Formats: sequence, structure tokens, C-alpha cells
Amino acid sequence: MCGIVGYIGNNDTKEVLLNGLEKLEYRGYDSAGIATLNEDGMHLFKVKGRIAALRNKVDENVHATMGIGHTRWATHGEPSEDNAHPHQSNSGQFTIVHNGVIENYYEIRDQYLANVALKSETDTEIIVQLIEVLYNECKDVKEAFRQTVAKLKGSYAIGVIDAENPDMIYVAKNKSPLLIGLGDDFNVIASDAMATLKQTNRYLEINDKEIVILKRDRVEIQTLDGTVIEREPFVAQIDATDIEKGTYPYFMLKEIDEQPFVMRKIIQEYQDEHDDIKLDSDVRSAMLDADRIYIIAAGTSYHAGLVGKQFIEKIANIPVEVHIASEFSYNMPLLSKSPLFVFISQSGETADSRSVLVKIKELGHPALTITNVPGSTLSREADYTLHLHAGPEIAVASTKAYTAQIAVLAILAVDTAKAKGLKFDFDPLRELAIVASAMESLTDQKEKFESIAKDYFETTRNAFFIGRSGDYNVVQEAALKLKEISYIQAEGFAGGELKHGTIALIEQDTPVVALVTQANINYSIRGNVQEVAARGAKTCIISMEGLEQEDDSFVLPHVHELLTPLVSVVPMQLLAYYAALHRDCDVDKPRNLAKSVTVE
Ligand code: G6P
Repeated sequence: MCGIVGYIGNNDTKEVLLNGLEKLEYRGYDSAGIATLNEDGMHLFKVKGRIAALRNKVDENVHATMGIGHTRWATHGEPSEDNAHPHQSNSGQFTIVHNGVIENYYEIRDQYLANVALKSETDTEIIVQLIEVLYNECKDVKEAFRQTVAKLKGSYAIGVIDAENPDMIYVAKNKSPLLIGLGDDFNVIASDAMATLKQTNRYLEINDKEIVILKRDRVEIQTLDGTVIEREPFVAQIDATDIEKGTYPYFMLKEIDEQPFVMRKIIQEYQDEHDDIKLDSDVRSAMLDADRIYIIAAGTSYHAGLVGKQFIEKIANIPVEVHIASEFSYNMPLLSKSPLFVFISQSGETADSRSVLVKIKELGHPALTITNVPGSTLSREADYTLHLHAGPEIAVASTKAYTAQIAVLAILAVDTAKAKGLKFDFDPLRELAIVASAMESLTDQKEKFESIAKDYFETTRNAFFIGRSGDYNVVQEAALKLKEISYIQAEGFAGGELKHGTIALIEQDTPVVALVTQANINYSIRGNVQEVAARGAKTCIISMEGLEQEDDSFVLPHVHELLTPLVSVVPMQLLAYYAALHRDCDVDKPRNLAKSVTVE
């Protein structure tokens, strides 16, 4: 989703901004721009489309040592050059980049900007025009900025530059992520540390409703009422080489291949010196205190939550509800007496999940975040965090974060069960090691999945994935993967439910992929496959060793029955990858999608 990068220092800013925006491309965007300021004034470059086009447009001869840049994922107004950021006030004095959504856009426009001709359809422009209107009254830029920010409702991460003053960037944030990066003779802002890892690994958090004045050699943080804040920086735990593709054509393929390594890393991080589970005792207590767990998540993380429910209920014997974050906020179920909220989020920044977190914190309930980014908003604002240790995930379609989430949820469930004194025959750390090897054997057979993808998905308009029980959770993720990156209309269905409506969509050669990894559904799901085959579907069965039948398209290596989602999802990820590849889709940056969805 929208990305921000800003720089104030002594070197040329163009490359820092363009390179930073390239690092944010993975988040999804449809237009981009930069503004730089030097003694000749402000230099603004914007394009609809990719950073590569912006690079071509930026004048190489303009040298400036401060500036701001933006990738925009359209919310208010279509993707276009006019709507792309940075936006300027009418006199050209103030220039802004903004992530988020201003909820009182119309009120501000009608109350303060009735006499101002707006040039774009964006909510962002009203911020920069308001700064100018208020500046014309008080003649103090900092005060005009402060008054403007105080009037904003909604989510924002903002960087503003004043054409009259090349020595400051004005920064503010509420709900949308924004970090300050610290250098020796420069400072940067970034909506995601990945944008500026080349410059620094030392970062300062900004809390909601704080404003920051960024200078070359100083960072001043204040609350809106002027209280000065001192805050210690932290070191970002990301290695700059982790965010390079290396020899891979796409990040998605690299991230699929990294899954065995991620499983082993999780084992290492969650194992103590006696080979037992090592887990924060506060997390354990929170689990033990809970009479019901509410898992809150979006997209792929929601699908991981569905698998997690099985673990926590079957292993730890605690009832679990899994909710789509964006629905929970507006349709909250009756809560139990002692609930624990578990937020699952790769990025830790998903606005829908954060909105639930804010609400349940107001109600005084405890929250645990399971995330790949420990310093993220959801991690900071929850009481407890469990880290996924999956390394940066760049491709929009989530793969290794999904399997890492499931692995960590299995460990959490077993740890809780042990603390409750429950007896069962399942050592997750040992079983995850078996999963890692099974994953490796699958990623070694890519050509088989490439050939299935070609055969089933090269030209089709739609596709169905069916499964029962635990497999049903995985086929929902399989369908999401395929539709996200190949644009094939795909649905994941409970095998038994298909005949209650959706079977009407089956035509000659409609692809139907069935998963069979659970012994108790082997017979019934194969019956569902027969039903669609009889109506012309082109069926493909992927089964688990021990359950296979003669004509199955692929047999998965055997793993513990509870952990089959970790293995059965890998062919699904590869099928989606090759389908997208053969349909000439941009695998890592699918149209309309954003990696980190920071607006509700
Ligand atoms: C976006 C991404 C999905 C992701 C979802 C939740 O929609 O495109 O891949 O699953 O957000 O993101 P989170 O970071 O909270 O896991």
C-alpha cells in the first residue's frame, strides 16, 4: 500500500528517494512521485505507473539534499498523475506526501477551503492546502502544521516540506506506520524500514498524534500540545541482503523455497537447551487465563488462523473463534468472560486488525500478536508478541509467512497443553523438522507442479479447490493464492458443500483440484471429486502418502496429520506461481493488491 520515504542530509537526495521507493514497490502501488528542494526551488516529478517510469522522468541535473517521495495505492480518486503524491499547496510553498485516509475530508474542505481551488481528487491535498490557509493567518509554519494535524481525523503518516526552508521536514503520524531513520549527518523518514536500510539500521518510533521536526543533525519529537518527547532508537533486525532476489526470477519463488529454512529457524528459536519448547512465560499465562481465544486476521493470515483454531482446540482444549478483522470491528460477537485476542499478521500493520486491537484494548482485554515484524504497530500495541522469524516477505502473495504462522500456532498450542498438564503424543519441534524435509522434497519437484499448472490453468477462466476438514482450510488459501496472482476466478470449497449451489458452475473442463490429507475424509472427498467429474470437470487429486489411489496427480510426503497444511499448501503455492507465470502476470506485484494494507 502507499509508501513514504524522505531524506534530509548533505548528499544528493534523488537516488535515496528513488531507491527507497523501489524497495517499497512490493507493498503495491499505482503511481509515484518525488519532490526535492534546493536553492532553485522545489522540483516535482510524478508518474502514473512504475518507479522505472519515474526514474526516466526525474531530471538528472537537479541536485538537492532534501526531499520526499511516495508510492500511491489509490483510495480517493483514480490512479493518475494529478492524484499522485507529492501534492502542493496553491502557492507552491508547501509540498506533502501522505499515507492513510482523512475521514473528515469533506468537513475540512467545506469549513476551511471553500475559497481554495483544489487540483486533485485526493484527501491528501486538503492537508497541504489547510497548512497554507493556516500559515497565511499565523505566519508560523510549525504552528500552521501543528494546527492542521490537530484538525485531522482518520489515519495519516505525513511528510511536508516548505519551499522557503530547506533545513526541515515536518512529520506527523496517526495509525499509519512511519519511522524516523537516524544517520550521522542525515536523517530519513520511511513508512517501512526496508526503504532506508541502505542508509541506516537505527530507527526511532513515532507514536500516534506526535509531530516531528526532522533536521540534518537533529530530530525533535513533540506531542500535539508541545510536550517534548525523548525516545531511544532501536536497531532494525533486517539484513539488507534479505530483501534482494538473488538468482530468483521472482521473490515469490524465493520465498516458497525458503520455507524449509523458516521451519528450521522456528525450531531453533522456540527450542530450549533440553529440546523442549521455549516460550515467553507471560504468553503462556495469558493462554492459561483465557476461557476463549479470538483470532483476528485478514487475507492469508486469516487462513492460517483457521488452521490455528484446529490446533488450539484439539491440542490445548480451549475454544477458538477466528474472525476476519474488517468484520469483527462492526459486528462484534458476544465475548466470553476471559477472552484472549490473538492477532495474526505478517506485516503487523494491517489497519483492519489494528482497529480491532484498539477497540478490545479500550474494553481492557489482553492481546497477543503473532507477526513477522516485531517492531510493528500490532506488536507494539499488543501485550505480547510471538515472532515468526520468516525473514522479510516481499512478494505480495504471502507464502512463507503463512507456514511460519501455522508452525508458531502449533508450538503455542502444545506449550499451552503442556502447561495445562494435558497428555498427547505430539512433539511439534520434532514434527516440524520432518515437515521441513517434506517441504524440501516438494520444492525439488517444481517441474511437476509447473506441468500441472500448465495443463489445468493456462487458459481457464475459473477454478475450484475442494477439501474437507483440515484440507478445507488449505484449499481456501490455495484459491486465494491462485486468484491473487493469476487473476483466475478461484474458490476454495468444503467438498460436501459444493453440491449445495456451486456445482452449478461446473462446465466441461472446469479445473477442480482436491486435497486429500486426512484419513477420515479420504472416501467422502473422493466422492465429491466423482460428482464434479461426472459433470465434465477436469479433476486433479493431490493426496498424502498412505491415502493415495492410482490416478492421483501427486502424492505428498507423509507428515503428522495435524501438520499436513504445512506441506499440502506448498504445491498450491507453486501451482499459483506457475499459473501466473504462464499467463504473463506480474507474479510479485499483482494488479490492485497491496502487501501491507494500512487503510481500513
Ligand atoms: C494483504 C496482502 C495479503 C495478506 C493480508 C494480511 O491483503 O495482500 O497477502 O495476507 O494483507 O496481511 P498481514 O500483514 O496482516 O498478514
